[in-house]
Amino acid sequence: MSERTDFDGFDLYDPGYLADPESIWRPMRDRCPVAHSDSRGGAWLLSRHGDICAVALDPDTFSSRAGEVTGPVPAPGRELKIPPVSSDPPDHARDRRLLMPLFGKEAVAGLEPLTRRTARELVASIVTSDAVRAGHPVDAVAEYARVIPVVVTTKMLDLPAADEELFRQWTLRMLKDGAQDYAARAEAVRAIQSYFRARLHSSTPGEAGGVMGHLLRRRAEGEPLSDERIVGMCFLMLIAGIDTTWSALGSALWHLAAHPEHRRLLARRPELIPNAVEEFLRVYAPVTIGRVVTRDATIGGRTLRAGDRVVLPWAAANLDPAVHPASSEVRISAHRPRHLAFGLGIHRCLGAQLAQMELRVALEEWLTRIPEFVPASPEVRWSGGNTRGPESLPVRIPSSASAR
Ligand code: HEM
Repeated sequence: MSERTDFDGFDLYDPGYLADPESIWRPMRDRCPVAHSDSRGGAWLLSRHGDICAVALDPDTFSSRAGEVTGPVPAPGRELKIPPVSSDPPDHARDRRLLMPLFGKEAVAGLEPLTRRTARELVASIVTSDAVRAGHPVDAVAEYARVIPVVVTTKMLDLPAADEELFRQWTLRMLKDGAQDYAARAEAVRAIQSYFRARLHSSTPGEAGGVMGHLLRRRAEGEPLSDERIVGMCFLMLIAGIDTTWSALGSALWHLAAHPEHRRLLARRPELIPNAVEEFLRVYAPVTIGRVVTRDATIGGRTLRAGDRVVLPWAAANLDPAVHPASSEVRISAHRPRHLAFGLGIHRCLGAQLAQMELRVALEEWLTRIPEFVPASPEVRWSGGNTRGPESLPVRIPSSASAR
């Protein structure tokens, strides 16, 4: 390894990093853009837009076989296979092509009425709740942000609504607790795999709907799809859109609660909400993803060895002043910002349009009935690991909201 710097030994779970990662990335970009740590399984952390893009655009040198950002890098063959996000070329293109029809414009539009109905009902129940009437705080993450993506995902996968709470708990165990508690992660992984295996064994191509039905029909048409690949793809489709979207929505609501000028602007001019969604995604990009080095490589002047883990925080790329002047300031305008919250290259998010729709509708419905709300406490605790967002968001809503 090259010479040690003061940013080596970083900890992705350091409270300072969780609360304000840009306060670490900013000096890193100048002094040590590529830092190394032995903690939590060992990893390289990148902070510059150019380096993050270079890694994302070179899947031959930087494999997606383990996307986790903590824990030991699994030995080849022992990874969690959730194609296409865990696949490398040449398999990746084939895996991704199989799922693409599920993300077309029509499919996303078809999920909008359910998203709107869900958001509207949740907002109605929040504004008429005893807590709001009594002037007590309401947790906008637990009561709103963490509900909508689970409902939409469950519908997309054509799974029973009665299992929604199970999916929320598995997502939390795997991605939140599991990033530091590897046994909890393994247990959640086994539970999700058993769930989809059981559904696969009781499904027929003609009857099954959702993602599994689509894959079974493709298999019946001759696509060579093993049970393991079908289970892995359903697994990915269950987890990829839940805590990513709820983290993005939680961050947007946190920002609006703390910035009256922005929330009033959007309440007055809802046509700006789609641009605001992109700006929130740029500044609060929730995802950090891992890669595994396949052959020795040099990035930012440091030598990475085959088998090392590299961590790509997409928010660090978005906030790099080399590409965005005044980069960490949120600006809501008629201009639609560009960003890398959905990644770059062959793995760019398949669910981007679905997430954009969910975020737009959730903010429209919230601001229509709750244009005024403030944080009940100046501090929030942020989740870390693969996804960053507020873990809870107690807000005070004036009781007059119930009359709207
Ligand atoms: C705000 C919400 C979301 C964010 C920020 C986000 C972010 C990302 C990122 C950064 C990647 C690339 C990972 C990599 O480079 O290895 C990705 C991949 C992916 N996302 Fe999302 N995502 C979101 C919502 C969704 C939703 C709603 C779905 C629907 C199921 C979804 C499905 C996928 C899939 C299938 C991939 C893998 C694509 C591939 O490997 O070819 N995402 N997402």
